[in-house]
Amino acid sequence: MSAPTMTEPLIQCRRISKHFGGTVALDDVTLEIQRGTLHAIVGENGAGKSTLMKILSGVITDYQGQLLLRGQPVRFVSPLDAAAAGISIIHQELNLVEELTVAANVFLGRELCGAAGWLRRGQMQRRTQEVLQRLQCPVSPQEVVGRLRVGDQQLVEIARALAFDAEVLIMDEPTSALTEAETQRLFQLIGQLRRQGVTILYISHKMDEVFQLADRISVLRDGRHVATLDRKATSPQEITRLMVGREVQQQQSLRQRAPGPVVLQVRGLSLPRADIPGKWRLRDIDLEVRAGEVLGLAGLMGAGRTELLECLFGASPVPPQGEILLDGKPVRFEHPAQAVAQGVALVCEDRKRQALFDQLDVAENILICTLRDAVQAGLLSPRKQLQLAQQEAQRLRIRAPGLRAPITALSGGNQQKCIIARWLRTAPRLLLLDDPTRGIDVGAKEELYRLIDQLCRQQMAIVLTSSELPELLALCDRIVVLNQGRVTGRFSRDQFSQQAILAAATGGQEET
Ligand SMILES: Nc1ncnc2c1ncn2[C@@H]1O[C@H](COP(=O)(O)OP(=O)(O)OP(=O)(O)O)[C@@H](O)[C@H]1O
Ligand SMILES: [Mg+2]
Repeated sequence: MSAPTMTEPLIQCRRISKHFGGTVALDDVTLEIQRGTLHAIVGENGAGKSTLMKILSGVITDYQGQLLLRGQPVRFVSPLDAAAAGISIIHQELNLVEELTVAANVFLGRELCGAAGWLRRGQMQRRTQEVLQRLQCPVSPQEVVGRLRVGDQQLVEIARALAFDAEVLIMDEPTSALTEAETQRLFQLIGQLRRQGVTILYISHKMDEVFQLADRISVLRDGRHVATLDRKATSPQEITRLMVGREVQQQQSLRQRAPGPVVLQVRGLSLPRADIPGKWRLRDIDLEVRAGEVLGLAGLMGAGRTELLECLFGASPVPPQGEILLDGKPVRFEHPAQAVAQGVALVCEDRKRQALFDQLDVAENILICTLRDAVQAGLLSPRKQLQLAQQEAQRLRIRAPGLRAPITALSGGNQQKCIIARWLRTAPRLLLLDDPTRGIDVGAKEELYRLIDQLCRQQMAIVLTSSELPELLALCDRIVVLNQGRVTGRFSRDQFSQQAILAAATGGQEET
């Protein structure tokens, strides 16, 4: 074998294919990653991005084709094996053990041991602390992971990869649960890593991130490698077209809506903090939503958006104070089931922890709230179930190996679509959407935007949060801004301004 040259790719994938039963996840993929570059991998939900990354990082070991690292054929037998060769991965679906501490998670499976086999806890904690500091993450290494919010968990996942000096770092949608400020810190860190010569493989559905960070971009479609382009020689439009295989409309400005009667009224709603007596998560919130309109909730992560939606759904950890009225009648939900019975639905932010039933299949996950519809002659009809699930799968273009496949076999974005389908089936009057497009691809977003518009025309009342402000600006009739649990701004469509909303969301805070 010849000595490595400057131009020899660091990683070469040669004719890699991977099947899951009848599903072709990767089909004859050949591509190269140059040393020291930031290489973005993009594609629709289910295109095969995570599968390819799992092969590169030793998570998936049975595949066809060949992998070369620094010109040498390699075949990793485990993630530890890949890590030893210098490849670390930050997983898309968080892979943490909730019962363990942050430090224990960071060192899971590669604990530092002393001579007699004792765990070097102190050393592991110090090392964890260092990495968390680099991420400017205020979490303590001794904190139990299950008690952290999703954004912090994602930072722990990132810390785990950083704790070992990797030559190649794979990031599978690392920013999907991060705040704007956390994202900026991650980008700074990515800059540092690049200056140290680390090669980064970066998966994201956010086109602006991809164009801000990448040197090169590879597009996967239906498991095939469609193109690899220099970022400077292409455009978001071209990449999107390659991903989807057709032209995608930009977020269109919405059609004139005609809101009907008030569906939801919230008056003086406050939510005490369970952990600190006398402090508030939400304070004195007033708002209303009409039938046929979308109310946006803007605010930084931690501003109280999710908590507010939880209050409206009877899912807050402690009962809220103040008044909630549905169709003018006061309601007090002690449990989500009561909210569902009154026509309220919540698509929540953290699908893995709160919404997916891992043991159930795709059809069951879609139908779990509306199983009654599949009862025929007093019995649950499997055929009817499949038929109903099929309708939803078509409506939202869910890509699944089959409706009887385990939900865990679906790509991240397709899992999210199943949850949206589940709640739409309950035909709610009030639909609460907590960052519903997180992790779903451009094509699916377009579908969802159209769907939201359609639901509005059917006089559904919708409350929407999003981690992407442009999305709120495009979809909402009005926006209410939360900042540290209080309303700090109200905007109607003709007053929408990104700057003004951001100012209201950040005013009086240290966040940058
Ligand atoms: N463990 C599994 N069992 C069966 N099928 C699987 C499994 N993992 C992935 N698949 C299938 O392989 C295909 C590719 O999935 P993959 O997770 O790589 O997509 P992705 O590009 O990462 O999508 P997303 O953007 O939604 O994360 C999908 O059709 C998926 O359903
Ligand atoms: Mg994926």
